[in-house]
Amino acid sequence: MIRKICCIGAGYVGTPTMAVIALKCPNIKITVVDSNRSRIDAWNSSNTNDFPVKEPGLDDIIKVVRNKNLFFSSDTEKHIDESEMIFLAVNTPTKKEGKGKGFAADLTNIDQCAKQIAIVSSSNKIIVEKSTLPVRTAERLKEIINKHKQDDVSFEIISNPEFLAEGTAIRDLFKSDRVLIGSDQTDEGLAAMESLVNIYKNWIPRERIIKTNIWSSELSKLASNAMLAQRISSINSLSALTEKTEAKINELSVAVGKDHRIGDKFLNVSPGFGGSCFKKDILNLVYICRQYGLEEVAEYWYQVVKINDYQRKRIFNIINSSLVELKNKRISILGWSFKKDTNDTRESSSIPISSDLIINGASLKIYDPLADKKQIIQDLTTYLESKNLDLKEIKSLLNQVKINNTLSECLSNSNAIIVLTEWDEFKQIDWQNFKLNIVDAVLPHIFDTRNILDIELLKSLEYKVFQIGNGDSNIK
Ligand code: UDX
Ligand code: ADP
Repeated sequence: MIRKICCIGAGYVGTPTMAVIALKCPNIKITVVDSNRSRIDAWNSSNTNDFPVKEPGLDDIIKVVRNKNLFFSSDTEKHIDESEMIFLAVNTPTKKEGKGKGFAADLTNIDQCAKQIAIVSSSNKIIVEKSTLPVRTAERLKEIINKHKQDDVSFEIISNPEFLAEGTAIRDLFKSDRVLIGSDQTDEGLAAMESLVNIYKNWIPRERIIKTNIWSSELSKLASNAMLAQRISSINSLSALTEKTEAKINELSVAVGKDHRIGDKFLNVSPGFGGSCFKKDILNLVYICRQYGLEEVAEYWYQVVKINDYQRKRIFNIINSSLVELKNKRISILGWSFKKDTNDTRESSSIPISSDLIINGASLKIYDPLADKKQIIQDLTTYLESKNLDLKEIKSLLNQVKINNTLSECLSNSNAIIVLTEWDEFKQIDWQNFKLNIVDAVLPHIFDTRNILDIELLKSLEYKVFQIGNGDSNIK
């Protein structure tokens, strides 16, 4: 029976997962550690506004379990050594340099953890791969551990990928479609797997716990994310065709999704998928396929990312041509996070679309209910740097950007309004009233890249509207 758990990584995956395990297993003491001390301090703050990850329902759970059986600590070595089970929930971004640059997952954090665990452990441990990892990472971890471990200490590595989505993390953890656990098919491996099954069975029905070999488990995470992203790219690619043919992409999604063999989830048209997982995981999959000489398979999956980039570019081109000239145009950007109900902005489509707008001379007013102002500026800076602009140029472009505290400030006095994240707040804008308050009588063009606005109402109020994939838009 596991009594003490250590989780390395206090981010979007580590903290929600451990909070739910702590709530469901009051007899297990869990300590979440992180090399980023300020993150740990923030999780220990008495003010929930300081928490670094905003996730509906998470604050309430933390209030119940923190300092009872869930702890946040910077004393990593102590808690690794004390624990029987260690979860690895560190980030594995795409490599920025070296072999596999731009595609492979950077496993530096994972390697560091393996080495640290091996060095400091004086008793046997089960290591759980929670982070998304390339298939056969367990082999690599074993090599590192065997090189550094004490002779009389043994380790079992099991894979238990996390399928939670941001914004619904707590709901996903409470009611997972499935919990996947992969292990070596040895007596020791199967015993390690059972000890994790015993934790999950406190709230997950037995039939939803899937047991596989370790490689299937590692690869299933990449495969699931790739197939989800593929659905989005499929519908986004078709949105270009529905615009040309006066069909409506929302009607197409419903019609196609009603076929139970296809299903209706993940068929929402968008300005492209964002988030820390989809692009990174597909690029990683492409890299792995190429490593095994599977060029056609690699190319097939790479197309999913290419369509995502195409969709962003396509939206920029539509805005650009409808406004005729972007120079000196004032544009309101509604939404910066990669989807609603999260403050996470990683890979958000708002970043490339907004950057292209300022590069072409537009001035932006940006509003997001949760995204941090500094993060927005950082996202733009990083993107512009990747376009090889120098610091002086970037500084001057950032002068064209203002970040607003309220939606009404952001909406006022604009030539164009672009909805990029599907926040509920944007669905409730009173367009009639807004029109009455427009001083110079020139209505802004509205670009709804999430199809959340009432296009018929907007058209009846004489707005020029573009809705993605909607053949009825009066901006083409
Ligand atoms: C994803 C997976 O869903 C989750 O299982 C995995 O553990 C991590 O990666 P996440 O990135 O948090 O989760 O969010 P998700 O809801 O999958 O959305 C990803 C992106 O796809 C968002 O930008 C979202 O707006 C977009 N999306 C989603 C669409 O464009 N259309 C859809 O129909 C669904
Ligand atoms: P994810 O979305 O995968 O949870 P995050 O970036 O939100 O990713 O969280 C990962 C966390 O892991 C970060 O807080 C980071 O500081 C932490 N981390 C990365 N490498 C290490 C390491 N070697 N030791 C401890 N913590 C680490």
